[in-house]
Amino acid sequence: MKKIIIGATILLAAAMGFAQEARTADPLFKALGEKPGLVKIMDEFLPRLVADPRTGPFFKSADQERVKAQLVVQICQLTGGPCAYDYENKDMKTVHMNMNVSMSDFNALVEVLQDSMDAQGIPFSTQNQLLARLAPMHRAIVTPAK
Ligand code: HEM
Repeated sequence: MKKIIIGATILLAAAMGFAQEARTADPLFKALGEKPGLVKIMDEFLPRLVADPRTGPFFKSADQERVKAQLVVQICQLTGGPCAYDYENKDMKTVHMNMNVSMSDFNALVEVLQDSMDAQGIPFSTQNQLLARLAPMHRAIVTPAK
């Protein structure tokens, strides 16, 4: 049931994201508080990812400061901010490929991100627009079932 709700949220988020984009250029970066806003969201997000029993095992031994910094730059670029994510020859598929990330792990991360944005007072419609841009990345990040 939870999976269905998360799936529906992502679809709704995608639809709202497209509708928003049709109206304006790219206000999302601004709505998220530009770079300082993204840093705050990631400061909230990483400890929650580590604390959550579903995502914690993945992130416990990761270099959290690095992941945080990389996510800020990546999301800045993704939302139209003045950033260029340097993949250092490692695209998202390569970074996540040996982790065995399932779709439910991916959905758990999305849920933790939603909670982090809630805690930061980010409006629901802004949250949904960001989630709509992240949702298609599951294709690179989730390990296909054999
Ligand atoms: C839209 C979703 C996601 C995005 C945008 C994303 C993005 C990133 C980025 C930018 C990095 C840093 C790469 C680097 O250091 O060069 C990273 C690392 C990492 N990601 Fe993701 N990721 C996503 C989903 C997930 C999921 C679902 C999991 C597992 C549940 C996960 C687990 C990790 C881990 C453990 C690292 C650290 C790898 C290391 O220590 O080298 N990611 N991710």
